[in-house]
Amino acid sequence: MRIVFALLLCVTGIFSPVALADMAAGQSTYASRGCIGCHGASGISTNSAYPSLKGKSEEYIRKNLSDYRNGARKNAVMNAMAAGLSDRDIYNLGSYIGSLK
Ligand code: HEC
Repeated sequence: MRIVFALLLCVTGIFSPVALADMAAGQSTYASRGCIGCHGASGISTNSAYPSLKGKSEEYIRKNLSDYRNGARKNAVMNAMAAGLSDRDIYNLGSYIGSLK
């Protein structure tokens, strides 16, 4: 019964435990991988050399991290940062950063 109720909430989009878990995982990756050092806490950069990420969509974040990882988008710093990210990391970072509105 509890599972049915949780599923119902997910389907209706009122509350998604899975999405919340992805965001939490993304937040911890954002900190542990050092993204915070350049892009700032909560995605607000305090250095004009580094873009703020806040307000960019989760799809945009995922696409650009994939592009940095596979070299379709070139930037020495970000190519190196993205090289170590797994598909799951990229997905979760998108969930977290995309939630910073
Ligand atoms: C040493 C500084 C530095 C670190 C650490 C860093 N970045 Fe970046 N990031 C940059 C710079 C510089 C750019 C702009 C690169 C360019 O012109 O393509 C950028 C661009 C980006 C973009 C594209 C933004 C846009 O507006 O298109 C994303 C997304 C991003 N970084 C995510 C991350 C994530 C996630 C991490 C941690 C895994 C991270 N960055 C770590 C410096 C950094």
